[in-house]
Amino acid sequence: MTVNETRPAQEWWRSAVVYQVYPRSFADSDGDGIGDVNGIRTKLPYLADLGVDAIWISPWYPSPLLDGGYDVSDYRGINPDFGTLEDADALIAEAHELGLRVLIDLVPNHCSWEHPWFKSALAAPPGSPERDRFWFRDGKGPEGSVPTTNWPAVFGGGAWQRVDDGQWYLHLFDISQPDWNWDNTDVIEEFDAILRFWFDHGVDGFRIDVADSMAKDAALPDVEIARDGQATHEKYVGHPTYDQPGVHVIHQRWRTVADEYAGTTEGPRVFVAEAWLSPADRLAQYVRPNELHSAFNFDALRCPWDAAELREVIDHTTEHLWAVGAPATWVLSNHDTIRHRTRYGRDQAHGGDPAGTVPSDLELGLRRARAAALLELALPGGAYIYQGDELGLPEVEDLPEEVLDDPTWERSGQTVRGRDGCRVPVPWSGTEPPYGFGPGTGQPWLPQPPNWAPLTAEAQATDPDSHLTLYKAALRIRREHPALGDGRLTWDEDAPAGVLSFTRDPGFRCVVNITGHPVDLPGHPDLLLSSQPLDNAKLPTDTTAWLRT
Ligand code: GLC
Repeated sequence: MTVNETRPAQEWWRSAVVYQVYPRSFADSDGDGIGDVNGIRTKLPYLADLGVDAIWISPWYPSPLLDGGYDVSDYRGINPDFGTLEDADALIAEAHELGLRVLIDLVPNHCSWEHPWFKSALAAPPGSPERDRFWFRDGKGPEGSVPTTNWPAVFGGGAWQRVDDGQWYLHLFDISQPDWNWDNTDVIEEFDAILRFWFDHGVDGFRIDVADSMAKDAALPDVEIARDGQATHEKYVGHPTYDQPGVHVIHQRWRTVADEYAGTTEGPRVFVAEAWLSPADRLAQYVRPNELHSAFNFDALRCPWDAAELREVIDHTTEHLWAVGAPATWVLSNHDTIRHRTRYGRDQAHGGDPAGTVPSDLELGLRRARAAALLELALPGGAYIYQGDELGLPEVEDLPEEVLDDPTWERSGQTVRGRDGCRVPVPWSGTEPPYGFGPGTGQPWLPQPPNWAPLTAEAQATDPDSHLTLYKAALRIRREHPALGDGRLTWDEDAPAGVLSFTRDPGFRCVVNITGHPVDLPGHPDLLLSSQPLDNAKLPTDTTAWLRT
């Protein structure tokens, strides 16, 4: 009997394939160039047909969108540009009818400077209860004109911003994103209430934004200085703002709130952690039985397309997550990273080049993206697909500077372009922008490339060789095959160097060829699927095959 068969249905998340929707860029129902909730509703049948189990919707809350919605001004509403709470309720109900679970995004480290509690903190004096919900501090130096600590902000510059009365507030991200003080009871209770609000609206769970950051070392020590003489961005052990022991107390509290829903139709609610923490033994702390359910495995996302390195990441991840009883959660791209087609098309020493200065061979990238998809979907555990991954979209690296919207662009003094290139609106149909993103010919908030006609969902739907067709076939097999999803794998140790080959019981083998030349396949009665046609019964390079054994 397989693990899949013995797990209760309530543990759906251990095997789930979750599709990430970035609402601004997914589908626009009203033609204003901005994706919206009703746009997502029109695509639910597409997602059900694609064969995913759940969707995760990036923040849809009221927000000035200075960080794409990760700057929340009201945690209980829907951004009017995206729709209404009634639209969201309808989406949740319709998704459930189609058998799709719905996860949304919780942003607990910071809010927007337009959040009413931050506005009242600004209006209140130093030392007031209103200010205590955030990190307001005096500066250093005779005039208090030196920031309280040397902490760098993730998007560039320092992490403290001065206000009119001379105090400073902490923002680990953009200046418009003040950090909540998680030592404050109001904050703790407010987030319990936010969780319950959305659980009562039927959402199945939350993706937790920067899940390793809420607790701060209240002594506010400076961070270490890196080799370049700058305050480091590295999340070393003991860092004052990342991976502090206090984050686990918060997660344990949330777990009890999610478990309160065990008796409801949807069952207990679930969490997935976004925590860019390495190595995997640190990440495993977040998915112990009384904490979050799962955590993205970003080591695999950052790993070059190299068999030995991939094997090491897979082994290390599974070893540590399985030790605490958690499944692995695989992901190749998201709204913060360079699309993996482009990443894999580069010289692999420079795959993650954020400036886009290293050229990418997009045909090679597509070939590897196909192989990587079959690897990802064959590994034990859950998997996430970022919108457009199933279409093989590349990163858009030539967006004109005047449309760049990511705060990184301005905060870095216009030296780092940021993440807009993976957020270009999805092409659905037709031969020219907006490719069915919205009705009519109105153009979306970020321009789409003129050569995306072959990449639309419509163009790929009937093409047996398309990226979309491969994803659909893989997801169908994954649903039906008892070996896939949660469980274990066994490496075939006799595979040649450069080949990843593993079996999963019962009766499944995955072989990935990263050698640079065709290799023989192990004996098998049946080829279930391959990312490229076989070459005289050999597995071509940069190709994955799924075999019946
Ligand atoms: C997470 C989000 C990212 C956002 C940041 C600040 O990393 O994925 O998009 O900018 O947190 O909320």
